Amino acid sequence: MTIAYPSTPPVAAAPSGAPRPRLTFLGTGYLGATYAICFAELGYEVLGFDVDEAKIAKLAGGDVPIHEPGLDELLRKNLSAGRLRFTTSWEDVAEFGDVHFICVGTPQRPDGMAADLSHVESAVTNLAPLLKRKALIAGKSTVPVGTAEWIEQLVRRHTPAELGVEVAWSPEFLQEGVAVEDVLRPNRIIFGVKSEWATGMLYAAHKGVFDLALTEDREVPVVVTDFATAELVKVAANAFLATKISFINAMAEVCEAAGADVTQLARSIGYDARIGNKFLRAGVGFGGGCLPKDIRAFQARAQELGVGEALRFLHEVDLINQRRRQKIVQLSAELLGRGYGPAGPDLAGTRITVLGATFKPNSDDVRDSPALSVVRKLSRSGADVTVYDPEGMDNARNDVDEVTYAKTLTDAVAGADLVCVLTEWEEFRNADPNTLSDLVAGKRVIDGRNCLDQSVWVAAGWEYRGMGKPVVA
Ligand code: UGA
Repeated sequence: MTIAYPSTPPVAAAPSGAPRPRLTFLGTGYLGATYAICFAELGYEVLGFDVDEAKIAKLAGGDVPIHEPGLDELLRKNLSAGRLRFTTSWEDVAEFGDVHFICVGTPQRPDGMAADLSHVESAVTNLAPLLKRKALIAGKSTVPVGTAEWIEQLVRRHTPAELGVEVAWSPEFLQEGVAVEDVLRPNRIIFGVKSEWATGMLYAAHKGVFDLALTEDREVPVVVTDFATAELVKVAANAFLATKISFINAMAEVCEAAGADVTQLARSIGYDARIGNKFLRAGVGFGGGCLPKDIRAFQARAQELGVGEALRFLHEVDLINQRRRQKIVQLSAELLGRGYGPAGPDLAGTRITVLGATFKPNSDDVRDSPALSVVRKLSRSGADVTVYDPEGMDNARNDVDEVTYAKTLTDAVAGADLVCVLTEWEEFRNADPNTLSDLVAGKRVIDGRNCLDQSVWVAAGWEYRGMGKPVVA
């Protein structure tokens, strides 16, 4: 059933007796912290929980532990308004909440492609035994299909039946870098539910989103569905996005062989509304804490369900994506005049500057970052690598410590034989190649995100290589 809100709402009163349901967000990473803060902004009483005391202390002190534009200001505003608190106490969470949103991470398991559900399990088994009244436990984390049913069993095992604690699944679709906007003004909301009460509670818990839409004369489509469909919507959406990116990167490979330009190709096919022009940016490929691990977990789950063949193409999507990272190493060797053998190139004695460490701009997230993956490869090939990123330096240092980190863009490029732009930060897009010319040892640039103005760089005397673009002398 799809409903476009605002319309006549189903009603469910908060078990706590509060006028609006009190919300808890379990896990205060990129997802949970953003949701907790934004839902306080929408007027809810909110409690954010994490097992990480340092993170909770930071949040409680008005300091967002991640870089997400606009979030700092909203955190401080809602802390002082008294609507937002943070805790490490499960008792506090159980006492406070009407709707408990599970926002913990579901990373790839170290022993395979499947998702690690240990944080989800621990959230439920810690919270459920402490519940003293009816509540809704609603999942937001990205999980393999079947997880909500399993959580329902865990809840039954850990809470007395007379409390009537229920489970729902409401996946999120926020994109880092624009997460505040995505949470406040979502393009759709999914309710995976088994009862009218759960629908009513989820409606009440999202009423602030619908009210905001009303004031802005917008509608928010809500799909009310079963657990399995709700869980699958999320992984299917991410699988589609990953496929779209790998499709255009496969075209980039063909363009490279045929001497064509993938940026013009993408623009041209994107004018067809059935294809659309979003997520067709060829480059060094997708990374982050979601797309790569989600397509792997989806394949693992399909295998378990006996339909592995149906998602075999996602393996190819992954391979195309990995090849783009290797392509930067190949191009580096080519530009630096080094041979490329079966063991990779020998880049010893070369100085390479990598601009960008995060998986995308306007974020400090380096999880499965293509930029850092290339940094590692270049460094292992013997290059002396210097990295600069406007926001991701601390996280990058924790991940890759064998390279040099520069404090500024100009420090980073000084003396470089080759500059690789691997995250399309505005600072890099706007960099003046004429100014940089005086600083580098060799005017060679790889535009791993096709984000630089090729003609300007070439006019400034740089040897330029894009992704899926013809070489222009
Ligand atoms: C992704 C989805 O876009 C969100 O809808 C989803 O909620 C989220 O995962 C999640 O599962 O929580 P996110 O990981 O923030 O969001 O990043 P994206 O904007 O999807 O970008 C992923 C990667 O693809 C980045 O490395 C980006 O540089 C790359 N990308 C994106 C391309 O290489 N080309 C494109 O055209 C678009």
